[in-house]
Amino acid sequence: MSHAELIDSSAPVALITGANTGIGRYTVLGLVERGYKVYMACRSEEKTQAVIVEILKTHPNAWVQWLPLDLANFSSVQDCAKSFLLNQSQLDLLINNAGVGGEKGLTIQGFEMAFGVNHMGHFLLTHCLMDALLRARAPRVVTVASNAHRFAWGINWSKIRQETRSILGAKDYAVSKLANILFSSQLSKNYSHLGLSTYSLHPGVIRSEFWRHLPPGLMPLIKWGPLISPQQGACTSLHCALDAPHSETGFFYANSSIKKPTVFARNEYLALELWEKSSEWIKRG
Ligand SMILES: NC(=O)c1ccc[n+]([C@@H]2O[C@H](COP(=O)([O-])OP(=O)(O)OC[C@H]3O[C@@H](n4cnc5c(N)ncnc54)[C@H](OP(=O)(O)O)[C@@H]3O)[C@@H](O)[C@H]2O)c1
Repeated sequence: MSHAELIDSSAPVALITGANTGIGRYTVLGLVERGYKVYMACRSEEKTQAVIVEILKTHPNAWVQWLPLDLANFSSVQDCAKSFLLNQSQLDLLINNAGVGGEKGLTIQGFEMAFGVNHMGHFLLTHCLMDALLRARAPRVVTVASNAHRFAWGINWSKIRQETRSILGAKDYAVSKLANILFSSQLSKNYSHLGLSTYSLHPGVIRSEFWRHLPPGLMPLIKWGPLISPQQGACTSLHCALDAPHSETGFFYANSSIKKPTVFARNEYLALELWEKSSEWIKRG
């Protein structure tokens, strides 16, 4: 019998994106320790399998599997959801964790890179997995946003379909993280009456690979600055995934407690507009 078969079939099931490094990797560990079967939806099989080997060394009974996922491509997102659904009918926990900042360009479907990966990819993935989520007893969707949303004063819709323009991609990243918070709150509005709870969060400022696109001259800031470890960075994700009350659905967290995001992130009309436009965009493909 394989180690996977040894796990109780009633164990809760989680899917997390961008789990091969950084915050995601330590979030997986926390989930495994709480008895979850975890699907790690990531771009690179090689990087993910290396992490799985490391996890199994310290947690030999862990149930962890790689699912291919490139959030910059709708077809890959749809295939990822299909592969999951071939194996599981129900999903207890979805963690939209993967993210890019400072990577410039367009996704395959022509969205600005940060908006396309951080928001559109996760919007589509959540949509494709919704039936499986709603089959779970008390499903949750956790979306890793950022305090960087504080630098976005709304969404300029015309820029969403243009290549990344801002210096270092910072402004575009801020907009994508504003979109993460608006998405999470609208998701709660649309589905909380069916039992789904949603959370968005700022994980802290983390010494992870996230900074890989910074110009080399700025790297010492990351190396010597007051950043926290990826393990510490996973704490708020794990709090939202495992311990936050279901009644707190739709809120934004930092340091494992509810925080007030900006007035733009609390704008119900903007949240609805983003939802409607995103729904239209995924229909067009
Ligand atoms: N680090 C911080 O200070 C900080 C602060 C606030 C919020 N956040 C947010 O926290 C989350 C995790 O960041 P992190 O610090 O752990 O960064 P990280 O170490 O760079 O990890 C990011 C993960 O996202 C994956 N990813 C990137 N583009 C992808 C794509 N197109 N499709 C699928 N996966 C993709 C990466 O995969 P590859 O390894 O294949 O590239 C990696 O697994 C992100 O949403 C980020 O915006 C981070």
